[in-house]
Amino acid sequence: MLSELIYVSRRNINCTDKDVEQILQASIRQNKKKDLTGVLLYSQTQFIQVLEGDGKTILGLYDHIKKDRRHKNVLLISLRLIEKRYFPSWQMGSKKIDQDYEFLTPLNAQEKEIFKQLITGKESHKATDILHKIFSTKNTTS
Ligand SMILES: Cc1cc2nc3c(=O)[nH]c(=O)nc-3n(C[C@H](O)[C@H](O)[C@H](O)COP(=O)(O)O)c2cc1C
Repeated sequence: MLSELIYVSRRNINCTDKDVEQILQASIRQNKKKDLTGVLLYSQTQFIQVLEGDGKTILGLYDHIKKDRRHKNVLLISLRLIEKRYFPSWQMGSKKIDQDYEFLTPLNAQEKEIFKQLITGKESHKATDILHKIFSTKNTTS
């Protein structure tokens, strides 16, 4: 059944931008084969990932990702059934964010607050809407 999983994690100090580039390339390749879509938001210290697709497939991948040494403190934010994909055209969209979480996308104060809570591991039913909004602006790669 179509599901969505969101987690946050701490990027390891020795995980370079080149490493992130490799993660993204591998993800795009492999997610396509598994009919998975989603996005990866990253800063110098953190990752937030949304994975969409078959529930079992997502959980299998999540188990695998959790063991990846390029990050740690992997924390599940939400796992739920969805009716349609938020990111149907992205095998793995990506966006780099700065430490102040300033986005090109104008987030209002409430949305910024929800995003800050999300990044510290608090679940929010509005999380995907905000991530979707962030990814709807132009400087996104997929
Ligand atoms: C933050 C983060 C996100 C990742 N996202 C994915 C992903 O969406 N899909 C994927 O196949 N691998 C992803 N990976 C990489 C996997 O952990 C793993 O390295 C990759 O699937 C290759 O595994 P293999 O060498 O056992 O084939 C991610 C890794 C990290 C650290």
